[in-house]
Amino acid sequence: MKTKVWAHRGASAYAPENTLEAFELAIKQKADGIELDVQLTKDKKLVVIHDETIDRVCDGSGYVKEFTLEELKQFHCNKLHPQFKDAVIPELGEVLMLLKPTSLTVNIELKTGIFRYKGIEEKVLTEVKMAGMEDRVIYSSFHHKSIVKIKKLDPDAVTGLLFSDGWINVTGYARLIGADALHPPVYQFPNRQLIKNSRKRKLPLHIWTVNDEPMMEYLAAQEVAAIITNTPDIARKIVDKKGTIL
Ligand code: G3P
Ligand code: CA
Repeated sequence: MKTKVWAHRGASAYAPENTLEAFELAIKQKADGIELDVQLTKDKKLVVIHDETIDRVCDGSGYVKEFTLEELKQFHCNKLHPQFKDAVIPELGEVLMLLKPTSLTVNIELKTGIFRYKGIEEKVLTEVKMAGMEDRVIYSSFHHKSIVKIKKLDPDAVTGLLFSDGWINVTGYARLIGADALHPPVYQFPNRQLIKNSRKRKLPLHIWTVNDEPMMEYLAAQEVAAIITNTPDIARKIVDKKGTIL
């Protein structure tokens, strides 16, 4: 099966991460999906931003959870790509509306590890349902209680187990908690054992963050399910080229 290309925080090598601009570019670069991060504002709105604070990406400072949506919208979100003067923090609903007419998969990462954001799982599921995109979304989190909660609220929801180093029997653990896919870091590869075990357990591998071209080639040759990358244009070419050689 041909490896899917998912744009990490959108086409974030070229446009401000987790903004509509980065997601639009991912569509243009023919990504098969996008990955994004959600947090909750003071007035309990779902916003798409990676960090718990706005400092790294916006022209302001402070915790996302201490601003209302209206307040957050006042900040420019182009610190990493200044040429995008109009970029702002989007609501999850805005991103879903942008993607709805496309065929792209949406990987929603719940950023519940530092702040628990009570009720975020219910809110995300409701938003996706309102958009009618239940079949196109995969929910992931490093905070595995969020995965369990998503599954409890909606047993049909597809979930991915985010993890990093040092796991023993991660495939068994993923099955135990009801996750449907594995989201390991790229620095665990090459890893024949994990590829073999995940196949045996029928757990697709969605690997982050794959920006190195030889690694893209290796993972595409292994036919892993998806690579999550900041450069979907480059990954697209590599994955498509591999398809023509075979
Ligand atoms: O979902 C894959 C990847 O985005 C996880 O790490 O820190 O970029 O959210 P991070
Ligand atoms: Ca993420």
